[in-house]
Order: sequence, then structure tokens, then C-alpha cells
Amino acid sequence: MVALTLPAGEATKSWLYLTQTVEWLLQERVERCDVMIALGGGVIGDLVGFAAAILRRGIRFVQIPTSLLAQVDSSVGGKTGINAPQGKNLIGTFHQPIHVLADTDVLATLTPRDFMAGYGEVVKYGLLGDEVFFDWLETHGAAVAAGDMAARVHAVTRSVEIKAGIVARDETEQGDRALLNLGHTFCHALEAATGYSDRLLHGEGVAIGCVLAFELSARLGLCAQEDTSRVRAHLRAMVMETDLSGIPGSLPDADALLALMAQDKKVIDGTLRFILARRIGEVFVTSDVPRDAVRGILADALAWHGQALSSYCSGATSSFQ
Ligand code: GLY
Repeated sequence: MVALTLPAGEATKSWLYLTQTVEWLLQERVERCDVMIALGGGVIGDLVGFAAAILRRGIRFVQIPTSLLAQVDSSVGGKTGINAPQGKNLIGTFHQPIHVLADTDVLATLTPRDFMAGYGEVVKYGLLGDEVFFDWLETHGAAVAAGDMAARVHAVTRSVEIKAGIVARDETEQGDRALLNLGHTFCHALEAATGYSDRLLHGEGVAIGCVLAFELSARLGLCAQEDTSRVRAHLRAMVMETDLSGIPGSLPDADALLALMAQDKKVIDGTLRFILARRIGEVFVTSDVPRDAVRGILADALAWHGQALSSYCSGATSSFQ
């Protein structure tokens, strides 16, 4: 067994590290019958999976996810890839791991911030697939965060069950798999706007993106405002950011964020597609979203962000850390 260690962080999901990984594997004379192991979080899983997909036209790989985000989401379903300057995950393949081994004991090694970022994806599964699970999270989320192992195992297991059910019916995202991107159109634009830096971790962006997706749904009359309030209340109870005001530093304006959204992989014929909600536990894909409604949601969210930023700069108390 030989091992290559790569730096933590989103910047590793790049051509530079993909090239380094593939060349190292070739130097090590990895053969088609060998098995690669991706031991790490979502960044490592996506990069190693992509390297496995293209090396010698595809070799087998195993995912051993060590972050909550990777255990509940990115290690399952076979999406692999790297980021491009134009946007996140724009270069990649579907290449299924032959095994996924998720050891929930490892989650105790995460920083609280990394753990809670992963919790953003767990909440996403309650919102998109199962209101009963969202109810359960409202009751047991604090125990999940505090390290209760039975609660953690249930949160990981239920998230993976919901994801696996959707991937089984639409592996290559021709239809329903897009539902797994609830909150991600907003999230990916925010991640690009913050330079894929630790100003905003992916799961934090997913949580904010889910709130914006529910806000948009409520504004379009598709779901009750009470559902949006409930999503926001649960995330706040978990001490998670729910607004752009939680993102430190300046952000581009609504039109620039819309332009970043235009790079989303769900765009068809230049039209953005969103995952919107009818209620908690029931979401759907639609391209029938007026651009002005999205711009309005972003402009309102940015106005809040601007107010928080100016109070921060003038030394007043704010939610920035
Ligand atoms: N993370 C979304 C998917 O795997 O489709």
C-alpha cells in the first residue's frame, strides 16, 4: 500500500492537484486491477474519485469519508470531479465507488464548524425527502451536534437512505437527482463569490441556500411562509447562519450573483433551473422562475448583508465572527 497526502481545502479540487495525483499514481505503477482509497472529506473523495475514473480508463475506488458532509452526501452516488475558475464541480464524471465505509466515531475529530457545515446537508435531506426526518432533526439536532452516537448514526443513515433512493432511480441526473441540489444554485454562486475560501464552507452555503430556496418558493406562492420560518428557526436553533449577513466580507451585487448562477450545471438552453418547495419534505425542479423574483430575493438578502457589514465596520455588535 502506498499513500499520497493532499492539502485540506476546496483549492485542492483543481487541475493542479488532479495532475499531481494522476502522475503520482502512474509513477507508482498503479494497475487497472488495483483499488484506490479516498480517505478524507468531500474534497478528497471528489478528487480521488475523478482520478480513479480517468486513470487507465477507470479503476475501482473505495470511499472512506471522514467528514459529516462526505458521510451523508458526497461519498454516496458516484459524483466525482474538480472545480473550474468558471464554477464549482464543472469538470468531472460519474464513477461509483465499490464501497463506502462511514465510521461515525471519526466525526468526533471534526472541528465544531466543520461538523455543523455537514449538518447543513443533513437538514437538506429532511427538507427535500422526508418531513418526518426534519421533525426528528428539530427534536434531536442538539443531540446530533453534542455527539450522541445513536443520534449521529440515525442522522447519517437516514440521509444516506434518502440520497440512495434518489440516486437509484436517476444515477446520472437526468431528472430527480437534481432534487439533491436543493439550495445549491444559491450556494454555488456564493461559494464562487467568496473564492471557495473559508469565508463560507460548502455546507454553510447549502444551509443559507436552502433558506433562500424556501424564501423564493414562499414569494412565488408555492409554499407557506411558515415553512420558511420553520427552516430558519431550526438552523438558528442549531446556531447556524441562515442569511448572507453571516458571510464575512463584501459580496457582489444581485446581478453579479445571478451571473455566477448561470454557470450552474442545471442550466438548460441558458435557463436556470431551481429546486423549489411545496412544503417541508416535498420539493420539485422547475425552470419556471422569473429572473426578477430571484434578483429580488438576492437584493433583499444583500441589503441585510450590507447593513450587517456597515455595523461591523463601525464597531457595532454583529453576527460576524
Ligand atoms: N450532492 C448532490 C448529488 O450527489 O447529486
